[in-house]
Amino acid sequence: MKKWLMRAALAALVAGGAPAWSEEPIKVGMVLEASGPFADIGRQLLNGARAYMKVHGDTVAGRRIELVVRDTTGAAPDVAKRHAQQLLVNDKVDFLAGFGLTPNALAVAPLATAAKTPMIIMNAATSIITVKSPYIARVSFTLAQVTAPLATWAYRNGIKEAYTLVADYGPGLDAEAMFKKTFEAAGGKIVGEVRTPLRNPDFAPFLQRIKDAKPQAVFIFVPSGEQPVAFMKGFAERGLDKAGIRLIATGDVTEDGVIEAMGDTPLGVVTAHQYSVAHESAQNKAFLKAFAEIDSAHRPNFMAVAAWDGMAAIYEVVRRLNGRMDGDKAMDVLKGLKIDSPRGPIMIDAETRDVVQTVYYRKVQKVGGKLYNVEFDKVENVKDPAK
Ligand code: PHB
Repeated sequence: MKKWLMRAALAALVAGGAPAWSEEPIKVGMVLEASGPFADIGRQLLNGARAYMKVHGDTVAGRRIELVVRDTTGAAPDVAKRHAQQLLVNDKVDFLAGFGLTPNALAVAPLATAAKTPMIIMNAATSIITVKSPYIARVSFTLAQVTAPLATWAYRNGIKEAYTLVADYGPGLDAEAMFKKTFEAAGGKIVGEVRTPLRNPDFAPFLQRIKDAKPQAVFIFVPSGEQPVAFMKGFAERGLDKAGIRLIATGDVTEDGVIEAMGDTPLGVVTAHQYSVAHESAQNKAFLKAFAEIDSAHRPNFMAVAAWDGMAAIYEVVRRLNGRMDGDKAMDVLKGLKIDSPRGPIMIDAETRDVVQTVYYRKVQKVGGKLYNVEFDKVENVKDPAK
């Protein structure tokens, strides 16, 4: 090191704090689904995080923030675990983040605990996830959180009998259980239930079974991306809409990222969820503008928003710790943290480390010739009812 440089460094240290230029960046290890059948999820998460960094800069408290991205290639717990281990041991990441799919998040939870490293869940939405490590904080949602209000709405709005169709894994089972519990408590009746495989589902036989049962309505949850598009196609092809079977769903099914690929089938479908591109607020306007600068080819969806908010949480932690990272202190900042999100106000519950937020009722409508989830009512401050 040159003499003057050494002197400057020493002076900075004596002045109380390492000079910013000598420090390693703060690393955020993003474990996400960047290829394979769930690549839409990885794209949304990564671009949401990038959009946040583009607007807010990549330096916080004098330290550069760096994303280190790893691809799970799908629902692959072993791959997720291997990536997380390498991120923690080799890259020495300060945060783990991302996690589109529940099995990947569950596989990594014990590693976050062992390394005392905060793990920010930007999508995976099975209730149990946050229980699996005290270092997990979730900024996305839970299926139970959005399904309970929908079931209440359905009964109040004339649906007395419903069939359920869910993906056969964590979030689907949560959605099925919460729909049944809330709908039956209100006085409704479940007339049939099916679970579809997470990998390569062929919806045709399930849809035929539902059509033959002639239920008043069908409630569905399948993970966002390719599956809702395939489901909608089958729903129309098999004529369930023409048979007068009403469709209600969590917002995963009519999500903004793919709704334009669904034709007119989803028109009129009522869903409950936490984010719509059509949400009117200054924060959402700013988010949409930032996202378009990163990815002008797709609409952002609720996952991109959660990644944006996850980065907001990470930036706030770094700011409050003045750039000196410590897993336990980071968790103390995350507990009770409030964020002014593009979806509306959210908070990370201090006790459960799970997200508390507004759940909106939305109806698919055409605005300017394009399909949108138009909000028509809401329930504020919804906690995960499964906790
Ligand atoms: C999940 O695996 O937890 C998951 C995936 C996609 C969704 C919701 C939840 O749309």
